Amino acid sequence: MANFVVDTDGIKRYLVNITVNGTKYTKMIKANSLLVNFLREDLDLTGTKRACEQGDCGACTVLLDGKPVNSCMVLTLSVDGREVTTVEGLAANAKLDILQEKFMEHSAPQCGFCAPGILMSAKALLMKNPHPTEHEVREAIAGNLCRCTGYVHYVEAILDAAASQ
Ligand code: FES
Ligand code: FES
Repeated sequence: MANFVVDTDGIKRYLVNITVNGTKYTKMIKANSLLVNFLREDLDLTGTKRACEQGDCGACTVLLDGKPVNSCMVLTLSVDGREVTTVEGLAANAKLDILQEKFMEHSAPQCGFCAPGILMSAKALLMKNPHPTEHEVREAIAGNLCRCTGYVHYVEAILDAAASQ
């Protein structure tokens, strides 16, 4: 369990060390801090979206130790000492991830609100299974709700990214 201090306002706060996109952050958080809010408000990483806040839509998907999670359902305290990757961590050395390139090439997103979450679910899939079938792609993004598209271009883009690796 992380160390805690009682702050001047009388609220107990906990000291956590969390690595996000390769950078280690040491922060004080409240016990009820959710990972999605920690990323967006404490670290200003607003690429991770917040919508249903009930684990239903997948807009807040990030990788926790390489596995996709709904960050609105994860207590920041439980992430102490662990590694998080957000959509901001996909591009490296000023080069977009192949999934980001293919999402653009295939015009996969429309409004784009769901895109960061779908990117992270797709990234987790390709890390585990570099050459998935269409069915496996659809399964991997089944928890990411998109109200604009029929997923067709998303699926094509992910399959194209897999073929281009
Ligand atoms: S905001 Fe987390 S699943 Fe919808
Ligand atoms: S592109 Fe608008 S919600 Fe998916």
